[in-house]
Amino acid sequence: MEQFNPDVLISEDEISLRLDELAKAINQDFAGEEVVLICVLKGAFMFCSDLMKKISLPVKLEFMQLSSYGDKMSSSGNVKVMLDVTGSIKGKNVIVIEDIVDTGLTLKTLLEILKKRDPKAVKLASLLYKPARNTHPVDIDYLGFEIEDKFVIGYGLDYAGRYRELPYIGVINAGN
Ligand code: PRP
Repeated sequence: MEQFNPDVLISEDEISLRLDELAKAINQDFAGEEVVLICVLKGAFMFCSDLMKKISLPVKLEFMQLSSYGDKMSSSGNVKVMLDVTGSIKGKNVIVIEDIVDTGLTLKTLLEILKKRDPKAVKLASLLYKPARNTHPVDIDYLGFEIEDKFVIGYGLDYAGRYRELPYIGVINAGN
């Protein structure tokens, strides 16, 4: 079976420290209020879990899963909701939790869908952002790390469904 030895791009400790900062900002921005975290499956599960533990507000958790069909670059009509939230977000403070904003198509589409549901606020937290590939700009309110255009795995991100369990962000380079 194919096995990579990825280089560490962002260590477990670096991630944890950055999540402390993101949680602090969220705690300040929504002080005294409840937030609904929407974890976008599958890639964001580990980021969401760790971030949630550092948030000191009343928190509810929802999951969504989206699927892109065909060419991701072509149109927002290609993003489909495969799994939706179970409760109403009307009047709620929503924070979408993503692992990576790449082209931005998935998040741009998702944010448009959620805003139509009349929440009080919709914010976006993304662990990673790859500006080199961005074709659909979105505002990332809580960003972990801006990264170069490299194939990253681990901490929820996969290569062909694998390596999500790695506790760090690794990068696959040609030859390893
Ligand atoms: C990844 C990631 C985002 C999307 C970002 O999901 O979790 O949802 O791609 O890409 P974009 O900015 O180009 O739209 P993926 O389709 O790999 O699914 P997964 O999270 O289940 O691995």
